[in-house]
Amino acid sequence: MSEEKKYFAVALDGPSGAGKSTIARNAAKELGFLYMDTGALYRSVAYSVWQKGIDPKDADAVAALLPELTITMNYDEEGLQRMYLNGTDVTQEIRLPEVSNYASQVSAIPAVRAFLLDMQRDLAARNSVIMDGRDIGTVILPNADVKIFLTASAEERAKRRYRDLKEQGTPKDYGVILVEIEERDYNDSHRAAAPLKRAEDAVTLDTSGLNFEEAKEKVLQIIKERLHL
Ligand code: DC
Repeated sequence: MSEEKKYFAVALDGPSGAGKSTIARNAAKELGFLYMDTGALYRSVAYSVWQKGIDPKDADAVAALLPELTITMNYDEEGLQRMYLNGTDVTQEIRLPEVSNYASQVSAIPAVRAFLLDMQRDLAARNSVIMDGRDIGTVILPNADVKIFLTASAEERAKRRYRDLKEQGTPKDYGVILVEIEERDYNDSHRAAAPLKRAEDAVTLDTSGLNFEEAKEKVLQIIKERLHL
């Protein structure tokens, strides 16, 4: 009888802007795990909805679009997760601010969540993964070996976003950023389908006041302790 290979699953959930993706990507690299940014899946659906001029609140219209969508991904030499929508690389496009807004709305539609569920579970069944999202520890991988709920105050997250945008040469008013973050938090945690919620068995890590390196080290420490690595 062949021994079944054991893969590790780390669920990293939390609100927008808590630093999940950068931390997860770097921690995964150090551990030799695959990193999956699940927000990119919702963004890919949202991009198609936006492109086709469909109202992202119209659950029936969005659900009717899903059978036409083939979403695939791979990793480039730098380990960056590239997203493809019906074969077209949409890695850049899905980061447009309009798409963020649409993603928040389409991710509240149960048919969209069901459509993306298997892709997420399949990846975890075949690799050791760190998956970042909103419902990984609660819905997608309820038996994950490690669950971390990464958070930071809305003000701290707005401050980081303000800094990033300024550095990228596309500055934006701090007050506007803060309101948008609070709105997204509200939408993500008040929807009926798989709202953003800390899993009961998750370790909470508040990164307010921590820099990236410190936050990443803490995440790695939690993972290594739990997995006896
Ligand atoms: O993490 P992100 O900002 O790229 O996510 C985009 C949107 O998708 C965000 O509004 C929340 C939603 N999302 C979700 O509902 N479930 C996930 N597992 C990941 C993201």
